[in-house]
Amino acid sequence: MTDPAFSDIGACVCDAYGTLFDVHSAAGREAAALGDKAKALSASWRQKQLEYTWLRSLMGRHADFWQVTGEALDYAMALHGIADPALRERLLQLYRSLEAYPDVRPALERLRAGGIRTAILSNGEPSMLSDAVAHAGIADLLDDVQSVESVGIFKPDPRVYRLSVERLGVPAARIAFVSTNAWDAAGAGYFGFRVAWMNRFGLPDERLGNSPDAVIEGLDALPALLGL
Ligand code: LAC
Repeated sequence: MTDPAFSDIGACVCDAYGTLFDVHSAAGREAAALGDKAKALSASWRQKQLEYTWLRSLMGRHADFWQVTGEALDYAMALHGIADPALRERLLQLYRSLEAYPDVRPALERLRAGGIRTAILSNGEPSMLSDAVAHAGIADLLDDVQSVESVGIFKPDPRVYRLSVERLGVPAARIAFVSTNAWDAAGAGYFGFRVAWMNRFGLPDERLGNSPDAVIEGLDALPALLGL
C-alpha cells in the first residue's frame, strides 16, 4: 500500500555516496596495506570529507568534491600516522570505483518499471559520479545525474535540492528523495521533498528539528513506499 506521504510521486532522487555507493569499500580493498587501521581510517576520511564540505560552504570557499576527498584523505592518513604516498593515490583512485550496494540495481529497476523517473543528486564532482555510475553498471537506470558543481555549493544548501526540481521539471512535493545521510534527509525535507531516510547502519536520527516522512532499512523498501 502506498505510504500517504508518497502518494503522488513522479521522480525519485537518490543521494550517491553512502546511499548507492559504499564509501568504505575503498579502504576495504586496501585492507592488506591498512591492516587494523582500515576501519578507523575510513571512518575518519568520510567524516572529515563531510566536515570540509560544510566548512567550505560556510566559508564561501568552494572546491570540488574530488579535491575535498583528497584533502580529507590527507588529514585522515596524518591522524592515523600513515605516511605512504602510493597508498594515498591508490585509495583516492578507488573512490572512483566504489562498490554499489546490492539493493541498488533491483530497486532502480522496479522504480523505472513503475513509471518513476530516477536521478542522483550528489556532492560528487561530475566525472567522479560518471565513473561510479559506470562501475556500478546503473547508467541505463538513471534519467539524470546531478552534481552540486552546477550550483557551486554543497549540501544541505537549498540551492542544491532546487537543482533536482529544475532539471527534472517535477515539483518538490512530487519528488521522493532518499539518503542514508540523515543530515541530507533533513535538508531535503526542509526544502520540500518527500523524504525517505534509509537507515542502513541503525543510527539514531539527527536532532535538526524535522523528521523524515519515512525510515527504511534498505533501498529495496523504497518502491513499496510508492505503492510499487
Ligand atoms: C553525496 C554525499 C552526501 O553523495 O554523500 O552527496
